[in-house]
Amino acid sequence: MKLFVDTADLNDIETIASWGVVAGVTTNPTLLNQVEGDPDDIYRRVCELVDGPISAEVVADARGDMVTDGRRLAAIHDNIVIKLPMGAEALAATASLRAVGIRVNMTLVFTAAQALLAAASGAAFVSPFLGRFDDIGQDGIESLREIVEALAMSDYNTEVLAASIRNPVHVVEAARMGSDIATIPPKILYQMLNHPLTAAGIETFNADAAARAERAAS
Ligand code: G3P
Repeated sequence: MKLFVDTADLNDIETIASWGVVAGVTTNPTLLNQVEGDPDDIYRRVCELVDGPISAEVVADARGDMVTDGRRLAAIHDNIVIKLPMGAEALAATASLRAVGIRVNMTLVFTAAQALLAAASGAAFVSPFLGRFDDIGQDGIESLREIVEALAMSDYNTEVLAASIRNPVHVVEAARMGSDIATIPPKILYQMLNHPLTAAGIETFNADAAARAERAAS
């Protein structure tokens, strides 16, 4: 499973990209609203930081506007992927964008039925939202599993990009069920990185190495 980072914060992207584990970036209007600066400049900088699919979301209701805005954003960099919110207009826009070589990430997907429509339209990615199910007491993992299974049994070239990740368990469960990608908020990536037993082990190793060096020097 590939790991993407889910943020528009350039500092977080730069820090986490330095770990060598990030294969792409996803953003959305909410994430963009959390940072300052011109969105196009942010997208350009993200494309410099991470060599992989960079999702930029279009905010439009009609297919024509989705295509126009999508083509404008895609012109920023070859790695820009256009994010469209699931719906009939987005399905129609996806076919038009795909026809000119622009990849689409169909977002705000919650069911396997929606995911199949997105895949059939030619979307390169489909983004099932796990956490928002959990937010209302439903099982986001089970919904993702249905989507992964349905697309795995189909002949579409659409990658499942698990989104709305709330904790490291979501990431591991997405990998275990065969999701192609998980897009992970920086906070969760930092949680994945750390464990108290790792910290304790490092402290012990460092102390023992220092003790040996001290004996050797005496
Ligand atoms: O990539 C989509 C993701 O950012 C949505 O997450 O936490 O707003 O459900 P959330």
